[in-house]
Amino acid sequence: MMGINARNLTLLLATIFGSSLLLTASWGSSGDAVFPPVTHGPTKEECSACHMAYPAGLLPARSWKKMMGELDRHFGEDASLTREVASGIEVYLTQNAADSPHATMMMSRIASGIPGNSAPQRFTETRYFGYLHDEVPTYVWKRKGIASKANCVACHTKAEAGSFIEREIKIPKQ
Ligand code: HEC
Ligand code: HEC
Repeated sequence: MMGINARNLTLLLATIFGSSLLLTASWGSSGDAVFPPVTHGPTKEECSACHMAYPAGLLPARSWKKMMGELDRHFGEDASLTREVASGIEVYLTQNAADSPHATMMMSRIASGIPGNSAPQRFTETRYFGYLHDEVPTYVWKRKGIASKANCVACHTKAEAGSFIEREIKIPKQ
């Protein structure tokens, strides 16, 4: 999967010019693409009705907080829950967020790529997602078997177990 591409080229240039200051150079994959899968019962149940239950580590706490406050307008869907259930889910998601104290290295990289004054609602629109996926061409994202960048499970066969490592990736041919 390697070969020359933007990501490798950046690292190569960083080596040639001796610059370790390039932000992307410190973003290199270190084989820790494992996100604790959702273990909280209500989150697992309520947040997997329309898509996989996304790991809390994909977004910072402020993003989850905002999302849980607007579930009636959730990506064009009404995903409302009772106040009790919603607040339990919010506690779980924020305590295990990308910027939580026990975040893994990759989670910390997600968090540090997001400006402090923004609360993105999509991991797929973060800079770090773009960086990790810069090898995937536009026409591949459009395949029927994928349909959406948010459809992690289309390519990451173990996504629901929280694992996104390279050898488990299988990109649909159409
Ligand atoms: C009624 C259906 C529905 C339910 C229930 C639902 N979602 Fe979603 N969610 C969606 C849709 C639709 C999208 C947009 C998917 C796409 O673009 O492919 C989405 C997208 C997302 C995304 C953005 C993914 C990305 O990075 O692009 C996150 C995060 C998310 N949902 C979290 C949650 C959480 C947390 C819950 C539980 C509180 C939840 N969802 C419950 C319908 C739902
Ligand atoms: C088109 C199929 C596809 C979809 C859909 C997709 N990815 Fe990926 N993902 C890839 C490919 C290809 C790579 C790059 C593998 C490499 O070169 O290391 C990758 C890399 C990653 C990595 C880094 C893996 C590592 O070992 O460094 C993570 C984490 C990741 N994706 C998470 C996600 C999440 C979360 C979603 C859904 C929100 C998602 N991906 C959606 C194909 C996909």
